[in-house]
Amino acid sequence: MKIGILGLGTVGGGVWDILSTTKFQEYDIKVKTALVRNKSKYISYEEQGLNLTLDPYEILNDPEIDTVVEVMGGIDKPYEYIKYALSQGKHVVTANKAVLAKHMEEFLALAKNNNAALLYEASVGGGIPLIKPLKQNARINNFYEISGILNGTSNFILSKMSKEGLEFADVLKQAQEKGYAEQDPSDDIDGTDMARKISVLSSTIFKKHLPLEHIQINGIRHIEKQDMDIAKKAGCDIKLIAKSNYENNNYKAAVEPVILKQNSIFAQVSDEYNIGMAKGDNLSEVSFYGEGAGRYATANAVVSDLLDIYNHEAIEHLAVDFSSTKVNPILADYYV
Ligand code: NAP
Ligand code: HSE
Repeated sequence: MKIGILGLGTVGGGVWDILSTTKFQEYDIKVKTALVRNKSKYISYEEQGLNLTLDPYEILNDPEIDTVVEVMGGIDKPYEYIKYALSQGKHVVTANKAVLAKHMEEFLALAKNNNAALLYEASVGGGIPLIKPLKQNARINNFYEISGILNGTSNFILSKMSKEGLEFADVLKQAQEKGYAEQDPSDDIDGTDMARKISVLSSTIFKKHLPLEHIQINGIRHIEKQDMDIAKKAGCDIKLIAKSNYENNNYKAAVEPVILKQNSIFAQVSDEYNIGMAKGDNLSEVSFYGEGAGRYATANAVVSDLLDIYNHEAIEHLAVDFSSTKVNPILADYYV
C-alpha cells in the first residue's frame, strides 16, 4: 500500500507518527507524499523521509499511490480531490464529516463504480470505533435511533464550565490549543459539526440519507456560567446532544443543549470524550464511548481504516437511499 496524505496537521501528523512506529515495519505500507501549504512548517517530516508537495495532483496522479488519506479539512478542495481520487480507482480514507455530509452520495457512487473503498471511521466520534461496528450490526439488526455527544470541543467547554467554573471563551481557547476545534470553531460551538456527524452516521446506519438542512440545530454559544450553576444546583448538567430517530420512513433529528440528571450515562461523558448510542430490534441499546477528538485518537481511527483496506476487510458500502426524506419537527418532550 502506498499512501498520499492530503494535510499534515493534527490528524495527518498523527497518522504519519503511528505508521512510523516499529509495529508497522511488518506491513508493506508506505506513506509516500503529503500535501502541505507551507513546506518550511513541516520540514521535520521531510527530514524523516516524507516527500512534501504543494501540488495535490502530484499525489492524485501518482500511479504508485493507491490510497489517499484526506485530513485537510474544509469542503470545496477536499470535494475536488476525493472525487478525483475515487474516479482514478484510488481508495480514500477521510476524517472530514463536513465534505461527507454534503457529498456522500456522489462519493459512494464513484467508489462503487471504480471498485474503490471509501472509509470514514474518524469522521464521527474521533477515535471511537463506532461506524464499523454499527455498519456490521446494521446487516443483522434494524436500528431506529442514534444519539450521542459527538463533538469533543463543545463537550470539553461544557465540562470545564461545569467542573471548574470556567468562562466559555477561556475554555474554547484551551480546546483550540489542544487541537480539538475545527478551523472555524463556530462549527463546534454552534452545533454544525455535530449535525454533520449525526447526518453521516444516520445515513450510513439507517441506509436513508439524512439531509443536513433538515436537522434542527442549536449550539452552546449562548450558555453562560450562571446557566451551568442553576443546572448544577438542581443536580443536573448541560450537554450538547445529537439525536436522530428513523421510523416508518421518517426522520426526527436535532442537535441541542440538554439538561440532564448528573447520574445519567451522557452526563458522565466529560472533556473531549464522546459517546454514541444506538437502539435497534435485536440490540435494544448499544453504546460506544471514547476520545472524540485529538491527534492520536483520531489518527488511530484513520490507520484502522487503512489496515482494513490493506487486509481487504473494508466492509462493502451499504447502499444508502438518497431520495428525499420526510423530516418531522422534534417533539417538545423528545429528550425526556
Ligand atoms: P489541521 O490541524 O488544521 O490540519 C490541516 C492540515 O491540512 C494542515 O497541514 C494544513 O496546512 C493542511 N491544509 C489545509 N488546507 C490545505 C490546502 N488547501 N492545501 C494544502 N494543505 C492544506 O486540521 P485537523 O485537526 O488535522 O483536521 C483535519 C480533518 O480531520 C478535518 O476534516 C477535521 O474535521 C477532521 N477531524 C479532526 C479531529 C481533531 O481532533 N483534530 C478529529 C476528527 C476529525 P497548514 O498548516 O499550512 O494550514
Ligand atoms: N472539532 C471536532 C470536535 C473534531 O471537537 O469534535 C473531531 O471531529
